Order: sequence, then structure tokens, then C-alpha cells
Amino acid sequence: MTTARIPISILALSVCLLFAGVWATAAVAQRDDVAIVVSEEPAISQWLLPRPVSDEDYYDEGQPDPLKVELGELLFYDKLLSGNKNISCATCHHALTDTGDGLSLPVGEGGRGLGVTRAPGTVETGGIHGRVPRNAPPVFNLGAKEFERMFHDGRAEVDPTQPSGFRSPAGDLLPTDPDLDNILAVQAMFPVTSPDEMAGQSSESDIGQAATAGNLVEVWRLLAERLRDGENNYVDLFVAAFDDIYTAADIEFVHAGNAIAAFEAFAWRADNSPFDRFLRGDKTALSLRAQRGMRLFYGAAGCAECHAGPFQTDQDFHCMAMPQIGPGKGDGASGHEDFGRERVTGEEADRFCFRTLTLRNVALTGPWGHTGAYNTLRAIVEHMLDPVESLVTYDQSQAVLPSREDLDAVDFMVQDDPDLVADIAVSCEGETVSLRPRQVDNLMEFIQALTDPWSLDLRDDVPESVPSGLVIAD
Ligand code: HEC
Ligand code: HEC
Repeated sequence: MTTARIPISILALSVCLLFAGVWATAAVAQRDDVAIVVSEEPAISQWLLPRPVSDEDYYDEGQPDPLKVELGELLFYDKLLSGNKNISCATCHHALTDTGDGLSLPVGEGGRGLGVTRAPGTVETGGIHGRVPRNAPPVFNLGAKEFERMFHDGRAEVDPTQPSGFRSPAGDLLPTDPDLDNILAVQAMFPVTSPDEMAGQSSESDIGQAATAGNLVEVWRLLAERLRDGENNYVDLFVAAFDDIYTAADIEFVHAGNAIAAFEAFAWRADNSPFDRFLRGDKTALSLRAQRGMRLFYGAAGCAECHAGPFQTDQDFHCMAMPQIGPGKGDGASGHEDFGRERVTGEEADRFCFRTLTLRNVALTGPWGHTGAYNTLRAIVEHMLDPVESLVTYDQSQAVLPSREDLDAVDFMVQDDPDLVADIAVSCEGETVSLRPRQVDNLMEFIQALTDPWSLDLRDDVPESVPSGLVIAD
């Protein structure tokens, strides 16, 4: 965990826009105080806006090979990649649910239906065994090179000291031949190895068996075998998309990861919001209220201390006292906590810290936070303004968790235990910022202006069918 900061490097590169101005609802100095009061006094302040995003920010200058993109789209929607052929990447990151699933916590392998209608089923009839413990994050803009860490705790990240160039839960087992193109491709290697997400249980398939035994290499080998099988109609597509594939035998699961990454990067780039247009020089792109909200965001409200840089994330980890709902990651005496970044670094100072999420398209991607605890954008923004108060007064009724008695029984075990809630509160590094309701309205107006209109209708990103012939519907 590093302390919050405005990125000086951006200034050094002098590619940012530096604004200085007199501003009526201006800033306040006492950062040490519990509350930062935003006064009415006119004051002179400066704030940094990020530089505009451009093609150079993305892999392949934003133009990945179209054949890889096309193949990646099919793989992303194909249930062939799951042990029981009943769930695809898209089930939790669907174009129709804004690249997430609309739920606080995913209903994974064995569930039925899409989005908020997805049902957990029963264990006896092949339903889910437990909830997936963290919110399925949106996939917007992850083809930008600065996203070097994936997952809420950053357990997959770019690391040039590793033979593969990446550090991940697979350690040295991460394949190096062929190479994984980027961290997004590395990420795609993992959902297929998780019994609760895609692989299924040990008694159900060879893939489920390898996954529950933790044999990642075997899962990838078995999936490659499926892709090599002529009956699934993928071979020609792989041969066309990859220079190093001549026959079915050359197909590795790494190729699938690389194609999926190309699709995600291309389809879900989102850098044409009113804010983007404003940064590129169109000063009429933002309403006056949104501009006031922007000043708060980059000034007195302190949001940009963490939501900094072109994608409004410092790509770092912070403890923001987010409510812990769902089964957790097995941490703590209760077994239902999630220590977040500490799980990766082993440092107690990182306990309950999670990756700063990008805010592009954030109005579309609820529920919000790493457990999806908040079901309105206003509620998560109010949390960011007063994290501890929001944690201790958290309204459990807003959690979007399809009900089943045994699952419901653990959902609020941490939130119902004042000692565990206090532990989360103590770690909080977010300060309290007092804004008047109208100022919060302006902040909300700015956050709404981070929505790219091209992302409002993603129906074109759903294929009509997939080569394996499996049904696409969930
Ligand atoms: C059962 C639901 C589910 C399925 C299926 C699933 N994911 Fe995810 N995805 C998640 C969850 C939950 C996380 C966050 C996990 C964490 O941080 O510990 C995640 C994280 C990600 C991320 C990282 C986002 C970020 O900002 O860190 C990407 C990219 C992603 N998934 C893509 C995929 C791809 C590609 C597939 C298919 C190979 C897939 N997912 C299948 C639920 C799912
Ligand atoms: C000290 C760092 C920090 C500050 C300051 C901060 N945030 Fe955050 N923000 C985070 C982190 C970390 C997360 C992810 C939390 C999680 O998932 O548990 C987050 C998440 C969010 C989300 C949810 C994103 C999503 O996709 O779920 C929104 C919205 C948000 N912040 C808005 C704001 C606003 C508005 C401000 C200013 C009032 C602000 N934040 C101030 C660190 C910060």
C-alpha cells in the first residue's frame, strides 16, 4: 500500500492540463482533521486534470488483430470453456449487463439465468455450492496498458522479474510458450480453473476434478483438447488468427487467453465520455454543474487522491472501510472475512485494502465496491465521503444476492459482528469530507458525465451463436 498522492509524474511529463483559478466553494487545508470542511470562502486553488486518453494508451495502439478479436468474442460467450459446459465468461461479464452481472456477488457454476434473475439452484440438482466471494468487476478499458494489476487484490500483475513477465497465483506454472500477450490474457487463464466460477466440482467432469485438485496445468490442457477437437469447430478460427498455429495440435489455452484479451480490449474501450471530450478541448462537453462537480472531485472532495490519472485510478490499493458481505475469502477467525491486498503481500498494513477502481462508465456498473455492497451510485459516493459512518450504518437490504437459505445464512456474518466491523473501520484511510447536498449533486453530475455514450448499447457485442453449438442463453 502506498499513500495517496496526486501523480507528480503526470506533471513532469507536462502532458496534463494545469488549471489554476479562483473558485467559490474552495478547499481547505486541515487534512489531519477528522472532517474536512469545504468552506464557502473564496480561495485560490489549483487542481490537476488528467491528460486525455489516446490510442497509445492501449495495447496494439487500440487496433488489435480483428481475427483475434472475433475469435475472442466467440470464446468469451462459449460455455465450452467450463467443466460442465454451462457457464461462460459472459455469464458474469455480459454485454447486456454492462460487462458485469448486475449482482452484488456472482452466482457462478451451476446457476441459471442472467443478471439479477440468475438463480442459485440447489446443490442436489447441480446448483451452486457457494457464492463467489467478490463482485464481478466491469471490463471497460482494461486494454489500457496502465492496468498492470488485475483482480480486487491485484493477485495477477505485470512483473518483469518473473520468467513469464507476470506474477500470478500460478507462480512458475504460468505458461511461457507461447507467450501470454498481456496481463489481461493472464487474467483469462484463471476463471476457468475456479470450481465455483467455471470449472465445476470434482465428481462432475475431468476439468472439475483437475480444478478441485488445484492442477491448473491439467485444466488448461483439457480445455486446449476441447478447442483442438474438430467437432467444436474452432480449429480454422485459431489457424487464421495465430501465426504459430498450423494444425489443431498447435492450439494451447494461452492462445484462447490472448484472443479473449484482444476482444475485451477492443470491444470495451470506453474513452468518449463528455469528460473525455472536455479533456480533448471541447469545453462545452460538460454542463456547468458537472464542471463544478469536477472541481470538487479534483479538489476539495479529495477523490483524485486515489482516483487519479487518465483512468481515474492510481492503480494502487486503499482501505476504504467497505462493508464485507457474502462468504468472504476464508480469512479471520470467522472464516468469512476478506483481507484483500494482505492476501497477496502478507503485510498486515494491507488488510482490508482493495484496488482503486476506475470510474469510467461507473454509472452503468452497479452494484458497486468489491463486494457489490452498494446498490445505488449515490450510496457508494456517500460512502467515499464518509467511509466509517457509512460502514457502521450500512443498510443490508440493498445487497443484490439471489436468496437460498444456506447462502443467506452467512451473507452478513461479518456485518452483524460489531468487533469485525470495528476492525474494518480502524483500517480506514479515507477521510471524512463534508459536502452540502447540492455539492454532492454536482459531484454526481460529474460522475454521470464519465459515461461513454458508445457503451450505452452493447447489444452488438453478443454473438448470434458460438462454434461449439452450445446455447448462449444463461
Ligand atoms: C462466476 C462469475 C465469473 C465468471 C464466469 C468469470 N468471471 Fe471474471 N471476474 C469475476 C469476479 C468475481 C472477479 C473478481 C475476482 C477477484 O477480484 O478476486 C473477476 C475478475 C475479472 C477480471 C479482472 C477485472 C479487474 O479489474 O481486475 C477480468 C478481466 C475478468 N474477470 C474476465 C473474465 C474472463 C475473460 C472470464 C472467462 C474466461 C471470466 N472473467 C469469467 C467473476 C467471473
Ligand atoms: C483513499 C483513496 C480513495 C479516495 C480518497 C476515494 N476513493 Fe473511491 N475508491 C477507492 C477504492 C480503493 C475503491 C474500491 C473499493 C472496494 O472495491 O472495496 C473505490 C471505489 C469507488 C467507487 C466504486 C467503483 C465501482 O466500480 O464499484 C466509486 C463510485 C468511487 N470510489 C467514487 C469516489 C468519489 C466520488 C470519491 C471522492 C468523494 C472517492 N471515490 C474517493 C479509493 C478512494
